[in-house]
Amino acid sequence: MPDTNTAAAAGFQNAEAYEKVMGRWSRRLAPLLIRFGGLSDGDRVLDVGCGTGSLTFTVPEIANVAAVTGIDLTEPFVEFARARNSDPRISFQSADARVLPFEDNSFDRAFSMLVLQFIPDAARAVAEMRRVVRPGGTVTAAVWDSYGGRPHIRMIWDIAAVLDPAIDRHHLFRPLTAPDEMATLWRELGFLDVEQTSLLIRMEFSCFDDYWSPFTKGEGPPGQLVASLSASARATLTEQLRRAYLADRPDGPRSFVCVAWACRGTVAA
Ligand SMILES: C[S@@+](CC[C@H](N)C(=O)[O-])C[C@H]1O[C@@H](n2cnc3c(N)ncnc32)[C@H](O)[C@@H]1O
Repeated sequence: MPDTNTAAAAGFQNAEAYEKVMGRWSRRLAPLLIRFGGLSDGDRVLDVGCGTGSLTFTVPEIANVAAVTGIDLTEPFVEFARARNSDPRISFQSADARVLPFEDNSFDRAFSMLVLQFIPDAARAVAEMRRVVRPGGTVTAAVWDSYGGRPHIRMIWDIAAVLDPAIDRHHLFRPLTAPDEMATLWRELGFLDVEQTSLLIRMEFSCFDDYWSPFTKGEGPPGQLVASLSASARATLTEQLRRAYLADRPDGPRSFVCVAWACRGTVAA
């Protein structure tokens, strides 16, 4: 097992908090990613870094698959997903994407949604997905375009960095988030018919509190940032973010685009 727990390092720990920060939105991305990657009746599907199960639970809604296995390194997420499952074709287990506990050629398709950017040696995880998918099967993944495609999160990092120039915005440049970076890796790993695209969803918030309060629970990288601030720095950030969210209009609903990079390739014979 690799030394670093990449999930804990990125602040993933609490399933209920994760649902508010991301799970409610990654459910919207899941059908787009599955349709981009392809899915057929009878497929055996692996969801790498399944989190609370957004993609895993969507797979059987799109095709009459044989089985879907979700794996994740965050045990509370695996337990949360398991507790919500009533489909005998779906199973969840704890595992590291870099050392998948499956035999070669065990699946027809592997998906990984919003995970690889948290794994510094992401190539190792993609190579593992290639190993466990049969020749002719597909490996499909998505990462958020964190630099150019997530305005509601950029607002947090940019305002925080203006208030305190010592704040490091390396989160905007995570592995595989640059244009064509995923496709380059897929080709290096020998996949065939490699294609990278952009997938767009909208995140809709009912008011500033609906937008902001999930980030104050310590979950994920923005949650880690907020938790690291002093009470006064946090209050200033909150006030400036409120101004950014409102943009001189009364509090109420706002809609933000969110764009993911997605890449798929076919496992060579
Ligand atoms: C942003 S969440 C995405 C979860 C889910 N796929 C979704 O879209 O809602 C990132 C997930 O990657 C998982 N993760 C991070 N490093 C991992 C690793 N090395 N192996 C397995 N899962 C990992 C975290 O536990 C977390 O559930």
